[in-house]
Amino acid sequence: MKFFIDTADIAEIRELAATGLVDGVTTNPSLIAKSGRKFVDVVREICAVVPGPVSAEVTATDHATMLAEGRKLAKIAPNVAVKVPLTPDGLKTCRALAGDGTMVNVTLCFSPAQAILAAKSGAKFISPFVGRLDDVGTDGLGLIRDIVQIYNQYPDFMTEVLVASVRHPIHVIESAKMGAHVATLPPSVLRQMYSHPLTDKGLAAFLADWQKTGQSILGT
Ligand code: G3P
Repeated sequence: MKFFIDTADIAEIRELAATGLVDGVTTNPSLIAKSGRKFVDVVREICAVVPGPVSAEVTATDHATMLAEGRKLAKIAPNVAVKVPLTPDGLKTCRALAGDGTMVNVTLCFSPAQAILAAKSGAKFISPFVGRLDDVGTDGLGLIRDIVQIYNQYPDFMTEVLVASVRHPIHVIESAKMGAHVATLPPSVLRQMYSHPLTDKGLAAFLADWQKTGQSILGT
């Protein structure tokens, strides 16, 4: 499973990239606004830090302007994946950008029907928002299950399932069980994945027993 980091905070990205666990980054207009920085500048810096796909979202809603924005974003760096919303104009733009050889991440997916349209439009990634579905009392992971099952029936579908709107490690674990290709994680969720109280307890016990030996690996 590939891990992308869902943030435009360059300090967080640098810190987590150093773990070797980060395969890409996703941003969206809200995350860019939160960064307080100029869009093109922060995307360019992220692309220089993380060699994998970096999603940068168009903000127009009509095809012609989306396409112009997408082509401008794609020129920032070779690893830019242009994000478009799952709308008729968004998928029309997806088809055109894919035809340019540009990676496209189709975002704001909330149904299997939408995911089928995105795959047929040549998307590199589809972003189903599991957390926002859970937030309104529907089964976000059920959407992942449906999309993976449908995509697995069609070898010519080249679209990767990029699980988005992740709220906690269970979203990652269950999506991985289903064979989703990518999960984009808020930095806090990646950090949560390391933690288990029995690991902490076991390490403390090992070190306490080791200290009793009076030995030092480097000192002897
Ligand atoms: O960036 C796309 C998606 O991950 C946003 O998630 O937390 O705003 O529902 P969220």
